[in-house]
Amino acid sequence: MAPKTPPDEVAAAYNVWADVYDTQANATRDLDARTLQGQDPSLFQGDVLEIGCGTGKNTEWLAPRARGLLALDGSAEMLKRARERPGVERVQFLQHDLREPWPARNASHDTLTCNLVLEHIEDLAFVFSEASRVLRRGGFFFVCELHPFRQLQGKQAHFVNPETGSIQNVRSYLHDVSDYLKAALDAGLVLVRAQDCRDDGAPRTAAPRLLAMLWQKS
Ligand SMILES: C[S@@+](CC[C@H](N)C(=O)[O-])C[C@H]1O[C@@H](n2cnc3c(N)ncnc32)[C@H](O)[C@@H]1O
Repeated sequence: MAPKTPPDEVAAAYNVWADVYDTQANATRDLDARTLQGQDPSLFQGDVLEIGCGTGKNTEWLAPRARGLLALDGSAEMLKRARERPGVERVQFLQHDLREPWPARNASHDTLTCNLVLEHIEDLAFVFSEASRVLRRGGFFFVCELHPFRQLQGKQAHFVNPETGSIQNVRSYLHDVSDYLKAALDAGLVLVRAQDCRDDGAPRTAAPRLLAMLWQKS
């Protein structure tokens, strides 16, 4: 059966970005890593599913902590870099479009993490319903995304295309805070914590760079 999603320009863009994702300056990527690593480490000790693992900057940190780690991404080139990282031999990497049903059984994971991915996916309801399906009762879903306040200032995922030298934006969608809350509530997830994350030293009046939220399946 043909997939219901259209051909993916996001994956095509990340296939190009992969070459320089880890080397070009990227304050959003770096703050996301610090935010993840600032969570309670016990969150990531069980069977973990990382959706949109990219080049594996978080996969490398999660791998030695998790009993099992499944890492999904739609971009073959991003996954290639992730597979080359040290210490990820036990990680199961799969190329998968997250807009299609996820390759994980019902109630098979203790924790899910999703970092800097949902700006590229229009249908939050589908993502949260899949998250709820694959989580065990009492399991956690951690999401850390570009803050909608920054999106409203015109910021979005972008990189300097190494082939053309020009700035390339990657297709993005705005998700308001209330969109996340509704999608999670409808999927049976209970909000445990929310964080507005600013750059170190940024004034209180600066728009937060990231929005991080932790839900639990009741
Ligand atoms: C900004 S990168 C973040 C990668 C990693 N999570 C990190 O924090 O560095 C976004 C990732 O989401 C993936 N992605 C975006 N839309 C996707 C989709 N529909 N299915 C699978 N992966 C997707 C991209 O391929 C890319 O690797």
